[in-house]
Amino acid sequence: MNKKTVTDIDVKGKKVLVRVDFNVPLSSKDPNDAIVVTDDTRIRAALPTINYLLEQGAALILCSHLGRPKSPADTQFAMNPVAEALSALLGKPVQKMDEVVGDSVSAAAAALQPGDVMLLENTRFEAGEKKNNMELATKMAALADVYVNDAFGTAHRAHASTEGAARAMRAKGGACVAGFLMGKEMEALGTAVTNPPHPYIAIMGGAKISDKIKLIDNLLQTADKILIGGGMANTFLKAQGHEIGKSLVEADALPEAKRLLAAAADRLILPADVIVADEFSADAKGDIVPVYAIAADKMALDIGPGTIDVFNQELQGAQLVIWNGPMGVFEFDNFAQGTNAMADLLADLAEVGVQVVIGGGDSAAAVKKAGLTDKMSHVSTGGGASLELLEGKELPGIAALDDK
Ligand code: 3PG
Repeated sequence: MNKKTVTDIDVKGKKVLVRVDFNVPLSSKDPNDAIVVTDDTRIRAALPTINYLLEQGAALILCSHLGRPKSPADTQFAMNPVAEALSALLGKPVQKMDEVVGDSVSAAAAALQPGDVMLLENTRFEAGEKKNNMELATKMAALADVYVNDAFGTAHRAHASTEGAARAMRAKGGACVAGFLMGKEMEALGTAVTNPPHPYIAIMGGAKISDKIKLIDNLLQTADKILIGGGMANTFLKAQGHEIGKSLVEADALPEAKRLLAAAADRLILPADVIVADEFSADAKGDIVPVYAIAADKMALDIGPGTIDVFNQELQGAQLVIWNGPMGVFEFDNFAQGTNAMADLLADLAEVGVQVVIGGGDSAAAVKKAGLTDKMSHVSTGGGASLELLEGKELPGIAALDDK
């Protein structure tokens, strides 16, 4: 990454505004409940940057969005449970503010001492956050001497705390640099975009083709093969002329699916067999059928064992593998075999030195559910951000940082 990072600057005795992605799952959407963080992966992922800055003698003003609140009245999205989880992980107090900017925050920020940690309220409680309002960004930058962005998961959003605050900090002469997580994500995913080792195999899944057309187009430029599973495979199978019964299909995307199949020649690998059921239900019974034999009253909910064998063959000898999107309805145990088998296969490949990168979102959740997160070379903390990066887009939160 040709952006400056925390190791390129001196933060001793300085106040550092750190944009983290603490958009974590919560136990409840009811503001009257005692809400707790149910998965602290993203908080843990920011700890190397937080601990490093503290060790260097900085005082930290952390900020993040949480969920998609419409206004501060959506108190179930207040940062209190995040502050508690962070404090437990750091083993020290975290001063949770009830505002993002304002007199209380300015006074508390001014009083911070080296080693102190403050967490601002949910940045999306401010109407200017999503509008990338410069007045808000300037007020945030005014709290600190330096800006650090470690929020890879939000780097695809040009918001006041991710993009505007960097510009505002630069305008007042302060440094704007990346944290360690941002650097790690850029190295793992950026390599796939700019300089992938070959053979490079991409595995795509998830429900919809329409979300991933740009991604597949870009992968056709960089990857050697693309293995397709999940609901999106149905649209490709239909485009090839197969009957797919009641399976999920995106009729509107059929022309694009045909175009991609033609452009890919034999580099798009589709399922050979699938697991079908009568209905979309956790209790439905699955049957394995070849893709040319899906009955009119059945729907495909997972890839079959024959497909896993084919995919396994294709993956042998790979130098780099990127996986984005589950192979079936993995939320239902009866239709999680394809996704779990893929996770196992990739863990084995990573063990023998293949670079295995898991895009965020559902694939990361599936790998976590299978207990294989630590086996992979890299599991991204960004869903939308990793997708946009692999599409070849510049991420505004990264573009805004100081060049090396
Ligand atoms: C994510 O979870 O993908 C990021 O935190 C961004 O959240 P958003 O999609 O609500 O902008």
